Amino acid sequence: MKKFNITIAGGGSTFTPGIILMLLDHLEDFPIDTIKLYDNDGDRQQTIADACKILLSERAPGVKLLASTDPKTAFENVDFVMAHIRVGKYAMREQDEKIPLKHGVVGQETCGPGGISYGMRSITGVLEIVDYMEQYSPDAWMLNYSNPAAIVAEATRKLRPHSKILNICDMPIGIEELMATNIGLKSRKEMVVKYYGLNHFGWWTDIRDKSGNDLMPSIIKHVEQFGYSTDTGSDIEQEASWNDTFKKARDVQALDKDTLPNTYLKYYFFPDYVVEHSNKDYTRANEVMAGREKFVFGECQKIIAQGTAKGTELTIDEHASYIVDLARAIAFNTKERMLMIVENKGAISNFEPTAMVEIPCLVGSEGPEPLSVGEIPRFQKSLMEQQVGVEKLTVEAYEEQSYQKLWQALTLSRTVPSASVAKDILDDLIEANKEYWPELK
Ligand code: NAD
Ligand code: G6P
Ligand code: MN
Repeated sequence: MKKFNITIAGGGSTFTPGIILMLLDHLEDFPIDTIKLYDNDGDRQQTIADACKILLSERAPGVKLLASTDPKTAFENVDFVMAHIRVGKYAMREQDEKIPLKHGVVGQETCGPGGISYGMRSITGVLEIVDYMEQYSPDAWMLNYSNPAAIVAEATRKLRPHSKILNICDMPIGIEELMATNIGLKSRKEMVVKYYGLNHFGWWTDIRDKSGNDLMPSIIKHVEQFGYSTDTGSDIEQEASWNDTFKKARDVQALDKDTLPNTYLKYYFFPDYVVEHSNKDYTRANEVMAGREKFVFGECQKIIAQGTAKGTELTIDEHASYIVDLARAIAFNTKERMLMIVENKGAISNFEPTAMVEIPCLVGSEGPEPLSVGEIPRFQKSLMEQQVGVEKLTVEAYEEQSYQKLWQALTLSRTVPSASVAKDILDDLIEANKEYWPELK
């Protein structure tokens, strides 16, 4: 079998070690020759790279690893670019969350003003990586999960319409794992799902087992009582904020009893609740810096100091195996059914054809083939129209360097109560993002 070369863009990400371990676990069905790490922060990446080199030498000596900040070295001769960059890193995530909160508005990484702010930074970084890939490995595919995926996907649709970039999110996968566990299945792969929406803004309409038995009633019954949490009352994650999100899915689901919601809808349906339950001085960014970032970099430093990865607590991100599924679908034309963020083009028949929607697709060597969704109900359609307006206006604002359009985007977000609050938040965000956003006129 051919051995693939992969670039991980955002090599210094907290997710890189888990993804490398996950790739190593799948070498039999997805053989790898070389993994290259690329990051524009060489120091941050070096710690991850040095630790992963030791780990690879012990667990998969045949797989080569190199790390570079030089685009040519990092992007030439590769088959796939797996991208998870965070432009502005956690320092700017913290601003995205804290600035809106200061104005009494939801402060979240990908939803509302925080997502818009992050989007205005991410577009430049993601386009740069697409361009490096096309320059140095024109046949490669980019599997992108850099956030905010909705805005990034709209930007690449519009500004790089012919590039081989696939945008994907792990939230539906994570929720499907919880659903499967909660109704006693071994794996989400025992379920065949119908789902539609925008990224971080969607609904399951049908879930069946492989024999066609309807699983929706039992999953809905569970969600009506416990949200996506287990019924033992025990917490799923270490972190309080995620447990709250999974539980809150119960209230989110109550808005439409026939479907099952993406957890991110809580920010749009219950913004007042979210703000009340946020700490203006300690947001998710602080939680992640004190938790995942400290842990991952601490483990890497231990590996480097000890010269061995034996006994490390770094674990496989098995949860990210959808990335291998996606790469295999393209490499081997498997036609796997996966949720992808693609241009609507009539798949949702009563919705904007150029919207980037998240829907089931069959993925093969030509890329994703969207499955038809048909008509969607007024409630979801109206919400999605408003949100897609936010996303498109953000990309237009980026492209045209338009203050006016970004103000409109913020005003249109369901999370923002008025145009005057939108303007106050915008002015603070401009100040905070000086280094990253295009200058607005
Ligand atoms: P992180 O800050 O630990 O890692 C991001 C890395 O990207 C950093 O090392 C940073 O230096 C690098 N970077 C920033 N700008 C860059 C650029 N222009 N070129 C190259 N490298 C650049 O962040 P993290 O928490 O590990 O998350 C990484 C990304 O993955 C984020 O965008 C996050 O939102 C995303 N993510 C997405 C999903 C999904 O469902 N789509 C799931 C998990 C994480
Ligand atoms: C989910 C979402 C991602 C998001 C992540 C945030 O996985 O699908 O898009 O980046 O959650 O996680 P964090 O732990 O960084 O808050
Ligand atoms: Mn996501």
